[in-house]
Amino acid sequence: MIFDALKPQIEKIVSNEQLSVNERLLDICKLLQANVTYYNWIGFYFRNGTKKELVLGPYVGAPTDHTVIPFGKGICGQVAVSNQNFVVPDVTAQDNYIACSITVKAEIVVPIFVKGKNIGQIDIDSNTQNPFSEDDERFLEFVCTKVASLL
Ligand code: SME
Repeated sequence: MIFDALKPQIEKIVSNEQLSVNERLLDICKLLQANVTYYNWIGFYFRNGTKKELVLGPYVGAPTDHTVIPFGKGICGQVAVSNQNFVVPDVTAQDNYIACSITVKAEIVVPIFVKGKNIGQIDIDSNTQNPFSEDDERFLEFVCTKVASLL
């Protein structure tokens, strides 16, 4: 299982104090893109201070216009409010969705908690329809827990 192999690599990146936090987050994005075939755009969004909006952090994939997302808007903005994972097997079936690229068919967003507070999220777009399983959710929860230890 690819995720079991990736977990120690995530831990290695997170513990590399030679790199800045943003460099480590970018390395996580690169690792995931290189090893999970259906992870096509991978990025982190973080809450902008006390404002009810998310700001794009490190990411890999096509540049996006959506560098700021208000709470409640799109899949990302909904996760900022719900504090729950959001798995979207088919983005065309979502009304409250912000399209970043016409190639995207599915999306998964998993929140990052620091001291019980939802401070951001990992967002993954896939060009494959319905690619995500509970294994993705458990793995991405692991990634988010490790990332939270840096913040
Ligand atoms: N699709 C997201 C917006 C961010 S892009 O995927 C990079 C959403 O609906 O919130």
